[in-house]
Amino acid sequence: MTGQNPNVSNPIGFQFRWQPNLKSAFDATMTIPLNMGKSIAPGANLCFSFARSASLEVLSDDHTLATEIAQDGDFYCITFLEGVPKSSTVQVRFFGDGAPLRKWSDAPAGVFWDIAEEGLTDVPPADNRCLGDLENLQFVSVDTGILESTIEAPGALVPAPVDQQNPSDSSGLWSIPNSIGYRSNHPVSFWFAELISQDFHPDNDGPDLDIQVSEGMATDAYELRVAPEGVVLKGGPEGLQLGLVTLAQKVWQCSEGVLKPTQISDQPAHHYRGFMLDVVRHFFPVATIKKLLDSAAWLKLNHFHWHLTDDDGWRVASQAYPQLNKIALRGPGRPLPPQMGSGSKAYGGIYSPEDIKEVVAYAQARGITVVPEMDIPGHARALIRALPEIVEAGDQSQYESVQFHRQNVLSVAEPKVLTVLTTLLDEWLELFPGRLVHLGSDEVPEGAWTGSPTAKTLMEQLGLSTVEALHGWFLRQLQDHLTAKGRQCGGWEEVRTGQSVELDQGVTTDAWVYSWQGEQAGQDAAEAGHPVVLCPAQTCYLDLAYSDHEADPGYYWAGTLDLQKVYSYQPRAHSKVMGLQACLWTELVASEQRLSFMLLPRLLAFAEVAWGTANLEAFDDFKGRAAHWQSFWKALGWNGVRPESHW
Ligand code: ACM
Repeated sequence: MTGQNPNVSNPIGFQFRWQPNLKSAFDATMTIPLNMGKSIAPGANLCFSFARSASLEVLSDDHTLATEIAQDGDFYCITFLEGVPKSSTVQVRFFGDGAPLRKWSDAPAGVFWDIAEEGLTDVPPADNRCLGDLENLQFVSVDTGILESTIEAPGALVPAPVDQQNPSDSSGLWSIPNSIGYRSNHPVSFWFAELISQDFHPDNDGPDLDIQVSEGMATDAYELRVAPEGVVLKGGPEGLQLGLVTLAQKVWQCSEGVLKPTQISDQPAHHYRGFMLDVVRHFFPVATIKKLLDSAAWLKLNHFHWHLTDDDGWRVASQAYPQLNKIALRGPGRPLPPQMGSGSKAYGGIYSPEDIKEVVAYAQARGITVVPEMDIPGHARALIRALPEIVEAGDQSQYESVQFHRQNVLSVAEPKVLTVLTTLLDEWLELFPGRLVHLGSDEVPEGAWTGSPTAKTLMEQLGLSTVEALHGWFLRQLQDHLTAKGRQCGGWEEVRTGQSVELDQGVTTDAWVYSWQGEQAGQDAAEAGHPVVLCPAQTCYLDLAYSDHEADPGYYWAGTLDLQKVYSYQPRAHSKVMGLQACLWTELVASEQRLSFMLLPRLLAFAEVAWGTANLEAFDDFKGRAAHWQSFWKALGWNGVRPESHW
């Protein structure tokens, strides 16, 4: 057994221990003391989330207990068929095939007793590391001298510009006090004011920074000259904004309070520089999304992919289908059960149209386009639970999704499903003005639709020979709907399922493809003519654990991902590769603190890769620059940034 914790802080909580050194199996035990002073009577339930498909054995003092076990997604509920005397312990053994357990964040989460007369009683972990609880771990303490970086960097611009000349006579030009006024001849400067609103005010009483702005370059190129005469900025429509971010970074980094002369010529290698947040597995309020948008804008990222629907929730309020608003919270006894450790509490949230408009406007003001994702036809358990009438009654298909769902795929041959989705999409189009709408399309489990009579009939009518072709037909209906409204659809790499360009089946090559299981699917899609966004999990999934350390939280199915590995990603260029995207899935991200811990500083490395100036030989230089940002993230309000001592 591994991971003995010397500081057991909660003796009434559960302990979790796993067998190390297994190759392709796992075997672990959760031990719960019965110290409520009562015995457990038959009929009691023990419930929790556990993100593996496991066989369970339940024991008390080495005696195997008779139980019934129900599983819904990652939510397990054990019903005791026999009693357990007080002052004994209950042990739940988890075993099965698959990757061995390696981390505290693999432990069961949201554990509670559900006992008829007593209601719900939480069982916290005895051992903080079961939660990967960062504050309580020396290993990841966030407050240890991170403000003083010892590494000298001439400037800490991230992403590094393509070309930067710092004249050797770099005597200071302007002292930068806490508050400074600026003068500008161009309205784009208001964007600058928005970005650094705490420090800058147009025409206030402080010394004025004269910003001369002129247009006339390629879209996202810019040139910035900071000289004794003032600041001169030239650029294309987006380039001007990007140049202002550079200026903002320089002003903020005036550690001696003096802005130095510089000449920068810059342009990103990729037009699409995105980041994705899953707000379904765990919900994040508008305030957190805004903080994230601020952080992204400072790193010159320009697309926010908002993963808004999944098996575990539907986060966009609907007027047409108010049933969706009723499943905003998951919890015991609700249509959506606890999941991802949400435990005994009613947990979740939903964005109102006003919330979404606020986020979209906030993003727009920072040069960021919001790409909403409605994940269909798989990953749709929440929609199905909200609208059970859209399920085809006679469908005998048997399948299990990666997250152990047996009913999370829409009945694509039922006409009412298309009606629901196009109605919902039309609602979304009112809220999201960006051209791209992401339709998910990932991870439809094998077996879906194979036992569906309506699918069989429709396939015969359409002359389709496989359920993959049916998947493609369905997506094409939605793509055509979006196209007719002047929009463009995107999807994960599986959006090409059932595609045959010769037969005009499946989505057309106008569909954007986001490759995630590796880079090859993206390159293949680019070769076929699709616009492509590369987000290979191995280097772009920031939900992956940073290291192998057992207390470092996160998934590791695609390996671990430290700063250097993010930085070392060298995407293959192709004219159809529009750019890159970092993704944060939130199965294990239950708090804003964990969110920033997973994101920062890795998002800086990603931003430089997406900009095209990452250079592995200069990784130390990058680290030095990134270190300067630690105080900035704190000032922005992130409380869980990974400390430099653990980069
Ligand atoms: C994905 O990670 N299923 C896109």
